[in-house]
Amino acid sequence: MTTDQTNETTPILALDHVTYSYTKGGKKVVNDLSRDFRPGSLTAITGPSGAGKTTVLSLLSGLTCPSEGRVLYDGKDLATLNRYRFRSHDIGVIFQSFNLLPSLTVAENIILSMEASGRKFDRPKREVVADLLRKVRLPIEYANERILHLSGGEQQRVAIARALSYEPRIVLADEPTGNLDMATQDDIMAIFRSLAHEEGKCVIIVTHSPAVAQQSDDLFELKPLRRS
Ligand SMILES: Nc1ncnc2c1ncn2[C@@H]1O[C@H](COP(=O)(O)OP(=O)(O)O)[C@@H](O)[C@H]1O
Ligand SMILES: [Mg+2]
Repeated sequence: MTTDQTNETTPILALDHVTYSYTKGGKKVVNDLSRDFRPGSLTAITGPSGAGKTTVLSLLSGLTCPSEGRVLYDGKDLATLNRYRFRSHDIGVIFQSFNLLPSLTVAENIILSMEASGRKFDRPKREVVADLLRKVRLPIEYANERILHLSGGEQQRVAIARALSYEPRIVLADEPTGNLDMATQDDIMAIFRSLAHEEGKCVIIVTHSPAVAQQSDDLFELKPLRRS
């Protein structure tokens, strides 16, 4: 595993000599990657298209298992843990395509995710929604707006709010600033930085943009593998 001498906190998530191919014996998309991810830190995964960024996010989120090596959560092999529980409680994933339900409202989308997690909440869900909207800087009136009436930037904020709804310790996002104007991009990055620095979450985002990567604490650069 890599050691980062400037940061002494224990890693919450780690890649330990991870190799991955989509088909058995096929081309390796990820080869022998090791890396630690810590709470309170914002990491940007960068690299050209096809370098394996999305694949690494699926491995870190427990959606796929490594062909070789291990993904460690709190030092334990994710393959031996209850991955359903991990995905529904401990990690919030923001997909490139948002995966929001367009004909439902903002609040309905967020509440669905809270219910699906099976987590207990000690406050009314509508109150949690109001807090989440504040956190992603959307006016409270948006709660009752249908997703299909929102702009791309607004949908991105809802996707972040939904990923935060069950209070995960880790937040992963695939190209969260991909199709946004500069001002919105900076605003979304400020949200991620505050999640890491003020709430102590481990935040990992994939990005193409050098400007976005510059605003992160750590860079994790993926190099494309040659076909074997
Ligand atoms: N479901 C899949 N089946 C087979 N190959 C895939 C699949 N998804 C991605 N790949 C291949 O894996 C490589 C890395 O893809 P990906 O992780 O999406 O890269 P990035 O997100 O950096 O663009 C690419 O060569 C891509 O064609
Ligand atoms: Mg990708």
